Order: sequence, then structure tokens, then C-alpha cells
Amino acid sequence: MIEVSGVSKSYSRGAVKAVDQVDLTIQDGEIFGFLGPNGAGKTTLIKMITGILNPDTGTIKINGRDIQKEPVEAKLQLGFVPDDPNMFARLTGIEYLNFMADMYHVPKEVRLTRMQTLLERFDMDKAVRDSIQSYSHGMKQKIIVIGALLHNPPVWILDEPMTGLDPRSSFVLKEMMREQADAGKTVFFSTHVLEVAEKICDRLAIINKGKVIFSGTMEEVQTHLRKNQSLENLFLELTKNE
Ligand SMILES: Nc1ncnc2c1ncn2[C@@H]1O[C@H](COP(=O)(O)OP(=O)(O)O)[C@@H](O)[C@H]1O
Ligand SMILES: [Mg+2]
Repeated sequence: MIEVSGVSKSYSRGAVKAVDQVDLTIQDGEIFGFLGPNGAGKTTLIKMITGILNPDTGTIKINGRDIQKEPVEAKLQLGFVPDDPNMFARLTGIEYLNFMADMYHVPKEVRLTRMQTLLERFDMDKAVRDSIQSYSHGMKQKIIVIGALLHNPPVWILDEPMTGLDPRSSFVLKEMMREQADAGKTVFFSTHVLEVAEKICDRLAIINKGKVIFSGTMEEVQTHLRKNQSLENLFLELTKNE
């Protein structure tokens, strides 16, 4: 469960209000989509949820642990897939995975079977010995997804996860998100692509200019849609400039 209460964040000494008084609760067992155009504030909120940035105001709890007051406890609950997979380029895939497993205290016996299963599912079992800088964008993305799941986190957070993935990997990732949610875990992801949100979310929030302007179940969206015809229309209507 993720609880975001009254969270705001400005950049450039207040000149840019990236996130404006956001309240969100994401329950266990659901895939929650965070939808908004580029620059809406999605990455900024995700960086605060994962403890990379501190909010100006408000609190964030991950399974009851305050990300600012109990950062280590809160972060151990999380698996995080950032929007930019360009990191640890000098390591090989397997070195990176072992590093992640060490960071999250995954016992040796468990990590080998988990790695093997995940590597095979993402067709990365051969490339894992090569250095990350030799990987394509999609392969980097996949090794980060695997690294984020090694400690079997109860809360999974992904920032624009489908970007750069080939159709097969994208399918496998969506399948995994569903499995995690069905196993009672929390899955929170951002996207600027309507179709992705439409297909896999149980609940979603639409953010524009730092403010959450719509939040509800897919069913509630559908009800709204009867008037507005498509999620695309709703999205365009809600995010249009006044
Ligand atoms: N480090 C930064 N300094 C100043 N402005 C920033 C910084 N990062 C993001 N912004 C601005 O904050 C707003 C929200 O950005 P972001 O959270 O990245 O949105 P999204 O992920 O939805 O595309 C945008 O107007 C962006 O230009
Ligand atoms: Mg972003």
C-alpha cells in the first residue's frame, strides 16, 4: 500500500510547481496507472515516493513506513524501475543483479533460482554475462526490471516502463505486473500512453500540471466514458488548457 498525503514539490526556488497538493492511496492487489502528458509531474512524484527527492510538504508511507522518517525500512518494501535505464553501464548484467541482491539482502540460495526464472522469462539468460553498456535500450530496461524484482518486493513502482520495450518484452512485463497484483502486491506505474493505461489498470489517476484531476476505477472511467466516448476524449478534455 502506498499513501501519499498533501504532497507538493517545486523546482527552481518555487518557480516551477511540479507536484501540487497530491493525495493518493494505492491499495494492495491493484495495478494503479498514473497517467498524464509530458511534464505533468509524474516522475517528480515517483522520485518522492521512492525517496530520491524530498517533498516540500506532505507525507508518503510505503506499507505504513514513512519514506522520510524510516527511509531504509520503507525502501526495502520497494522495487523501483526508473524511466532512464542508463546506469551501472560498466557492470555486466550478472554483476548488477548480484549487487541488487546484496543491497536487498537476498540469500544466495533464493537469488539463483529467482534470477534464472526472471532471466529466462525476459530472454536475457545469454546476455547476462555481457556488460550493460553493450545492451540495447530494451535490454537495459529488462535487466533493471529483473534487478527490481529479486527481493520479491510487496510494492512495485515503474516509471514509463513500456518505453523502449519490444512487443514481446512489453507483453511479459504486463503479465508480470498482473501476477504481482493478483498475488496481493501493489503495482504503481506511470505512463503518457493512454492505451497502456486502458489495457492494464484496475484504477488510475490523471495528473496535469502537478494536480490530480481525475482518479477512479476503470469502471468509473467507463461510466464517465459513456458521455465522453473514449478515454482519449476524457484525457484530452481534462488536460486541455483553460
Ligand atoms: N530538476 C528540475 N529542475 C527544474 N524543473 C524541473 C526539474 N525536473 C522536472 N522539472 C519540471 O517539473 C515539471 C514536471 O516534470 P516531471 O515530473 O519530469 O513530469 P513527467 O514525468 O510527468 O513528464 C516539468 O515542468 C519539468 O520541466
Ligand atoms: Mg517522466
